[in-house]
Amino acid sequence: MKVLVIGNGGREHAIVQALAKSPKVEKIYAMKGNAGIGELAELVSVDYCDIKAVGDWVDAHTEIDYTVIAPDDPLALGLADELEGRGHRVFGPRKNAAIIEASKAFSKELMKKYNIPTAKYETFSSYEEAKAYVETCEIPVVLKADGLALGKGVLICKTREEAIEGVKEMMLDKKFGTAGNKIVVEEFLEGPEVSALAFTDGKTIKPMITSCDHKRALTGDLGLNTGGMGTFSPAPFYGEKTQKEVMEKIMIPTVQAMNAEGRTFKGVLYFGLMKTKDGMKVIEYNSRFGDPETQVILPMLKTDLMEIFEAVTDERLDEVEIEWEEGCCVCLVLASGGYPEKYEKGKEITIGDLDEGVVLCHAGTAMKDGKLVTSGGRVLGVCAKGADIEEARKKAYKNAEKIKFDGMYYRTDIGVKYRDVERE
Ligand code: AMP
Ligand code: GLY
Repeated sequence: MKVLVIGNGGREHAIVQALAKSPKVEKIYAMKGNAGIGELAELVSVDYCDIKAVGDWVDAHTEIDYTVIAPDDPLALGLADELEGRGHRVFGPRKNAAIIEASKAFSKELMKKYNIPTAKYETFSSYEEAKAYVETCEIPVVLKADGLALGKGVLICKTREEAIEGVKEMMLDKKFGTAGNKIVVEEFLEGPEVSALAFTDGKTIKPMITSCDHKRALTGDLGLNTGGMGTFSPAPFYGEKTQKEVMEKIMIPTVQAMNAEGRTFKGVLYFGLMKTKDGMKVIEYNSRFGDPETQVILPMLKTDLMEIFEAVTDERLDEVEIEWEEGCCVCLVLASGGYPEKYEKGKEITIGDLDEGVVLCHAGTAMKDGKLVTSGGRVLGVCAKGADIEEARKKAYKNAEKIKFDGMYYRTDIGVKYRDVERE
């Protein structure tokens, strides 16, 4: 098969690396990819958020048998519908299902209507009403911009002053653009967080191994929220008991709710969960693979990813047995100085001899005049496996030292989090 992968981050490199191992896949194209992806795929320079242009490109390239849509924005814009409408096979939910990520107001409503455990909340479209509400609500409180905001549209307000200022920033100053026209004001929850991703064809749900992200930019969970500075897999506090609870109270009810709403979800459904004293609760849904979660999940997948993708498309996921390697995996993100705010691009990257089994997932990298250079905030993910998290973590850090570019920074505590949380 000839497969097109949409996207250009570390997640897409992990997907491309998994597809490259499939005996079914003979050629991969990536739109628009990055330097690492370019080693395995032919890069295509079309703006993937211009869904008509993508449709025209796929129409014109009749050799393409299948398209994998990895990022949230083209899914929210309806790229799956556009390609399906033109008779192409795709992996990724339709627009009316991708809304589960694209609108927090929608996802909160859905959870309320179908009794799916989540933080209590109120939704506001008026600045005056939101301000009045946070003047008296319980503190801490969490403010969320309704729309897509690159994972940054969430403010955890520890004081009332911060909450009032936050409502102003979102609704009046438009800090997150139009994503903040409507906001969700939510109860503050506490507990360890886990990303639980699952493949679903709308009938069957097959969970992947779990992982934990590190969203803050700096060591010790300090600094601004980012797309994710590193991950490890699996979550040590998420055993069979929790998996059963999540399947019964969250995963199955969510897939059924989407069916009942006429919004059947086919693709990867990402459950961002918190283990609270009152049980597992949904913090967020995503309509796609996580980044950098995918960089620790797919290296552990033993089953052919292409076979799973096709089974989802054809609604026969029940027929596929998905197998995972034993052990743990850690992904350490190397970022450009200044990220997630302003940073410079075009810095030359040098990579020494990496230990066997260490995999690099390229995110913001490009080739310029024959040299590998930085082209984004998150530049590389150093992914290493081990018998336990500590072994994987040591290997990732040891190998990160062999990589250099001007301004490079990374957290020094990826994989340390939740060591003290009761294991399950
Ligand atoms: P989200 O983009 O919804 O995943 O939120 C980003 C981060 O904010 C999450 O990973 C949590 O760490 C935190 N967060 C979101 N909602 C809540 C909440 N209700 N209580 C506590 N922390 C939250
Ligand atoms: N790592 C968080 C996300 O992909 O949304």
